[in-house]
Amino acid sequence: MPPADFLSSQPQSIQSSEVRSLADGCGWLAEPKAVDAMTQRRFLVTGALPYSNGRSHVGHIAGAYLPADTYARYLRATGADVRFVCGSDDNGVAALKTAREQDRSVEELTSHYNRCWEKDFKGLGIEFDIWGGTHQPDYVAVHEEFSQDFFLKIFAKGLFTKRTTKQLYDTQADQFLPDRFVKGTCPHCGSSDAFGDQCEDCGRSVDQLELIKPVSMLTHSTPELRETVHWYLRLDQLQERLSSWLGQKKDTQACGAAWRAIVLNQSLGRIEAEGLPERAMTRDLHWGVPVPLDDPDAKGKSLYVWFDAPIGYVSFTASMFKQRGDSNDEYERWWKDPDCKIVHFIGEDNIVFHAITWPAMLMATHESESVQGKRGEYQLPHNVVSNSFLNIKFPGKEEEKISKSRGTAVWIEDYLKTFDPDPLRYYLTAIAPENVRTTFDVDDFIRRNNGELLNAFGNFFNRTMTFAHKYFEGKVPPTDRRDEVDKKQLDSCCEAAARTAEELEGCHFKTALAEVMSLARAGNAYFDTTKPFMTRKTDMTACGRAINVCLQTARTLTTIVAPFLPFTADKCAAMLKLDEGYRTWASACDELPAGHSLGDPVILVRKLDPKELFGD
Ligand code: MF3
Ligand code: ZN
Repeated sequence: MPPADFLSSQPQSIQSSEVRSLADGCGWLAEPKAVDAMTQRRFLVTGALPYSNGRSHVGHIAGAYLPADTYARYLRATGADVRFVCGSDDNGVAALKTAREQDRSVEELTSHYNRCWEKDFKGLGIEFDIWGGTHQPDYVAVHEEFSQDFFLKIFAKGLFTKRTTKQLYDTQADQFLPDRFVKGTCPHCGSSDAFGDQCEDCGRSVDQLELIKPVSMLTHSTPELRETVHWYLRLDQLQERLSSWLGQKKDTQACGAAWRAIVLNQSLGRIEAEGLPERAMTRDLHWGVPVPLDDPDAKGKSLYVWFDAPIGYVSFTASMFKQRGDSNDEYERWWKDPDCKIVHFIGEDNIVFHAITWPAMLMATHESESVQGKRGEYQLPHNVVSNSFLNIKFPGKEEEKISKSRGTAVWIEDYLKTFDPDPLRYYLTAIAPENVRTTFDVDDFIRRNNGELLNAFGNFFNRTMTFAHKYFEGKVPPTDRRDEVDKKQLDSCCEAAARTAEELEGCHFKTALAEVMSLARAGNAYFDTTKPFMTRKTDMTACGRAINVCLQTARTLTTIVAPFLPFTADKCAAMLKLDEGYRTWASACDELPAGHSLGDPVILVRKLDPKELFGD
């Protein structure tokens, strides 16, 4: 159960204090308290920085960004102070390789896709407080400064080893081949499509020197081995601290939020099974953050993209405050203060980096060897929330993996040309791959839109509003009394709000949405039981009693659906003539007073035809 103090904070809806609250008697919403800086919860929420070498598809959105946005919206509704940070991951081999393939400059490519992602996010109602980019003109200077500072701090701690190693070199292109510039046969599963850093078929990380029959992606020639120098992060030295910190994350009592099993398995589980080797944090590459060492061996080298990318979370936070003219240290209140909770939302393939490497980097900057940083030092993530991947199924075809190269994806840009954002937000949360892979099934998407969102949610509003306008002059009808069935329905409202909050606190988005939908269904069942369509002919007072309770239910639904379906919630709020404060969670059970006038009814959910999505 979430602590009562924040749930009841910021009562600021149109309903004034003289209006009785439905929450009276519902313990968790009782006694609104004023929010002050001391008690206000603070969260720094991030979405994994997307690579700016391609567009966004439903898999990305379901994996990280939609749950992150839902969470940020919910936290704000509880009165928390939230910063939601994201931006593009521009450095590294991926962007450089695509730029070469498309014969454009890497700067132009990454700026182009940075804007594409920004537009797609906007279209879906995924609203960041800052949208940066690790190599975008307005961010690159601050980002380099932070990244180099991190590197130097860790260097000063003696937690890098400088090593001479062998690496694959393309003699025709006259350059080393880091990571994805080389492909070959996977030493683990035998797939012929493995990259020099990871095999996408079996998901294991691959050392390029283990690749069987390596081929250069630049010239398709067979590379040769040459010596080079790199700096390796001493993960072995940090291993003990990491595992004791990760160990606490199994336990809700110890950390306030138990981490998902998939995250613990791939982090703690891996450490326990294999231990942590040193990892190279530099690359032979001209694109990225230059290695900030006064050492001839560092010439022409950049920081590994997975070293600088997560630092983007910090550097974008700093840029955000800088842009507003705040002091340089303002970002520290979010990153170096144990009172602020840092929550990272990511996809499955990012787990190792966010639950091992990134915390290791943060720890490596700490003064002492204690597990948590002190106030004033970088804080470790409170939670790393990861989803699994999403498969896709088109009508008449087999279920398959989403693949850019095979064209098996639903692109957000295409989707938004025809559809509203909320049906997709609804579906992607309803099928969220929170524990296992799930499938975006195009037929199922249509079916659930028409069968659930429209039938349960849309119709409940529709029939309630139609009645209020037709028979009660567009006003909330008065009630002479509440019968048992009415009280039960009003209790369901409070309970649904409380349970939805509880699920959202634990990042269980799918079950949270199910709670909302079950209240909509309860509303329909109440409507069917009390039969206002009959009583309107025989007993207008009874009819008014029922429509009043339906409107109170609609009032609650408006608040609790808002983190999931913000566009729909705005329409609901307009129909009920609520002001902006309707999003405040504590207002969810405020009672609409009799006589309160309502707005015009609008269509909340449109019926979708499968043909619209992909033709015949
Ligand atoms: N660009 C990576 C991906 O899309 C995610 C980077 S997350 C960050 O898989 F933390 F490193 F920024
Ligand atoms: Zn493999």
